[in-house]
Amino acid sequence: MPFTLDRSRALFDRARETLVEGVSSPSRGNVNYDVPIFMASGAAARITDADGNEYVDLMMAYGALLHGHAHPRLVAAGERALHQGTLFATASEIEADVAERIARLVPGAERVRFANTGTEATMAAIRIARAVTGRPLVVKFEGHYHGWHDAFLVSSHPRDPATLGEPADPPRVLDSQGLPEGAVADTVLCAWNNAELLAGCLDRHRGRVAAVITEPVMANMGVIPPRPGYLEAMRRLCDEHGALLIMDETVTGFRLHPGGCQALYGVTGDLATFGKALGAGLPLAAITGRAEVMDALAGGGVLHYGTQNAPNLALTIAAESLDMLTEDGAAAAAAMTRLGERLAAGLAGALEASGIPAIVQGVGPMLQVLPLRHGHADAGPIHDMRDFCTHADPALYRRFVHELFGLGVYASPALLLHMIVSTAHTDADVDRAVEAAGTAAGRL
Ligand SMILES: Cc1ncc(COP(=O)(O)O)c(C=O)c1O
Repeated sequence: MPFTLDRSRALFDRARETLVEGVSSPSRGNVNYDVPIFMASGAAARITDADGNEYVDLMMAYGALLHGHAHPRLVAAGERALHQGTLFATASEIEADVAERIARLVPGAERVRFANTGTEATMAAIRIARAVTGRPLVVKFEGHYHGWHDAFLVSSHPRDPATLGEPADPPRVLDSQGLPEGAVADTVLCAWNNAELLAGCLDRHRGRVAAVITEPVMANMGVIPPRPGYLEAMRRLCDEHGALLIMDETVTGFRLHPGGCQALYGVTGDLATFGKALGAGLPLAAITGRAEVMDALAGGGVLHYGTQNAPNLALTIAAESLDMLTEDGAAAAAAMTRLGERLAAGLAGALEASGIPAIVQGVGPMLQVLPLRHGHADAGPIHDMRDFCTHADPALYRRFVHELFGLGVYASPALLLHMIVSTAHTDADVDRAVEAAGTAAGRL
């Protein structure tokens, strides 16, 4: 059957009549696609669109689908919860069940508070940090994304390398229109993966920094691991300056390791935030951390409300999902990591064989292919937003992924994002993706 997107095109025309640009988040629309592919169903690691085309899914709902699509055990758990009632908005046993699982897995999770999205979790985390320390400022790193609330909407997006300025004094570029004046006035910007720069930044704002928030592995500019010792240095500097360390594990939690990056790298934040994989496809997020810090939420002292907090449906699925991840000595997590590494090696080989200069960077089940700009074939590993903007070629990546679509592989065409394997992927899925990548690269 020839590859066509006729029905997606017709649905896009229809959707544009009522939905803003035909989609529900800009990255799903014309920013990344000529015609967004309208998906209709998924099973395990495969996803099928409205025209009946089947793909190996390497996007996995941006990492939310820890166990792939429609896993029978999660479907059964969901059915149970649907019959019990989806949301009580009262105290319920399942909250303690899931919180206990999280506390067992996640270093430093002495207390857990549930929310719905990563955005809500990071918003609450900085409010807690300000309350506990009595200080106003939050350090945020260039190129890191922590959700779409006002305080973090500065210098998250890649830019023309000519506008990057000095790493010791990074330019503050607003990410959105419509922000109130002063929205990011208390957000201090710092370049990432360089302990000296962070030390200088904390010195300049001595006694005024409530928290440093970081993605422990940068996951919104491809996949960029921390340099050896960097997270440890961040921990030490926060302690020296009396600032809290917030590990934003929205992307990495329950995926890079069942205990997230805090377990993988052995560095524990005062607070950590989770989303995506925690709900295994349902909106569920959590803030975790030291009891004396988290207890600032008690009685609404630090306000965090939510009608939808801790819904029975998402928590029942999360409990089953965490059990699936950890049973048999966390065999599923280990298999996911092995497949991610195999996919990364396979993609690197396929691109090299096609003569496309590219770097493939990954940590366990998350990885990204970074085609290099003309004249940058010798670039080394990408360590931060500056390297990313200087060396990587988003337009070439977009063409590469659009070629993959016709070859039965789905990934986001945005170079900023990354490829993901779930516990549902198999060696056959990886083989198919690598073969398609070789063909796609050959056509570039
Ligand atoms: C590191 C990080 N933090 C927070 C968020 C926000 O999460 P959500 O989209 O669930 O609001 C994201 C989303 O991609 C993220 O990557």
